[in-house]
Amino acid sequence: MRAIRCHRLDGPDGLALENVTAPAPAEGELTVDVEAAALNFADTLMTRGTYQEKPPLPFTPGLELAGRVRAIGSGVHGFAAGQRVLAVVDHGAFAEVARVRAADAIPLPEAMPAEVAAGFPIAYGTAHGGLEWRARLQPGETLLVNGAAGGVGLTAVEVGRAMGARVIATARGAERLALARAHGAEVTIDTGQADLREAVQAATAGRGVDVVFDPVGGALGEASLRCLAWEGRYLVIGLAAGLPTLKANHLLVKNVSAVGFYWGSYRRHAPDRVQASFEMLFGWWQSGKLRPHVSAVYPLEHVQAALAELEARRSTGKVVLRMS
Ligand SMILES: NC(=O)c1ccc[n+]([C@@H]2O[C@H](COP(=O)([O-])OP(=O)(O)OC[C@H]3O[C@@H](n4cnc5c(N)ncnc54)[C@H](OP(=O)(O)O)[C@@H]3O)[C@@H](O)[C@H]2O)c1
Repeated sequence: MRAIRCHRLDGPDGLALENVTAPAPAEGELTVDVEAAALNFADTLMTRGTYQEKPPLPFTPGLELAGRVRAIGSGVHGFAAGQRVLAVVDHGAFAEVARVRAADAIPLPEAMPAEVAAGFPIAYGTAHGGLEWRARLQPGETLLVNGAAGGVGLTAVEVGRAMGARVIATARGAERLALARAHGAEVTIDTGQADLREAVQAATAGRGVDVVFDPVGGALGEASLRCLAWEGRYLVIGLAAGLPTLKANHLLVKNVSAVGFYWGSYRRHAPDRVQASFEMLFGWWQSGKLRPHVSAVYPLEHVQAALAELEARRSTGKVVLRMS
């Protein structure tokens, strides 16, 4: 099979397309004939050795995929060869065949195209889990989403809307803001132009927002914490722009909470919740409440260009690799 392999922790330059032996499933696993795999910001970190998970070299990157079950390992029940699934893996999605823990494979609605399904689980799973389980977003509350044109940010705009919140979105530039509006944001703020706190105060009649969904961090994260209303919740999703410094006095004065959320850990700690979340998200997708945005599809062999697009902040929504 063809697979992308990372030989040096050098970002796109350390990757090569190679022919390798297709894997067989171990106990508790499936192998999947991958139709499409999606890129994540984490791939840019993992291929530079700066992500929390550091697989030994050489490894095949890629964290999420969609395809058909190829072979079923011992002890696995409930799957059939040829069945369409999406799956999340620790790494290994950028290949024609991937090994998947059966617990991390989810049967797919027949109508969902592979390019959409490949980029569905991490972004929508994170948006829904973070907002429901950790931030406890309520209908009628106001939600501020940072990085709202990016992979996970754009899905948080849609999920926030589907949960009944009023959504304020931040991104860089008019085109990216227009995308956030098209996906449900009522108010948009250009992080390259406006003072965030002033713009949020103006949009909320001086009250502030109830929840911040923040995949960006850095100075924007720090400014966002100061946009919260009384009893607001700041949800730490990612650190694309670096670590924000969260000052305890800012938490104290307005009874604000800062809560962390790492969706991947729920696959091990609370798989039933993840399963139930997907059932609901698929329902929302089927009813048209979610409209996954794939901004680019590349053939597998163009993985370097795809990754460079993400690193340069040129992509919107999801970037996907197609195997054939
Ligand atoms: N907690 C979890 O379980 C979880 C799950 C998925 C992702 N994440 C994290 O969430 C973050 C976003 O992931 P993603 O896959 O959605 O990435 P993405 O598609 O690249 O989106 C990141 C967005 O952040 C904005 N940004 C602002 N400053 C940036 C900077 N210095 N470098 C890069 N982007 C910057 C960019 O929008 P503008 O250019 O418009 O500002 C970009 O659209 C990452 O930190 C990722 O690790 C966490």
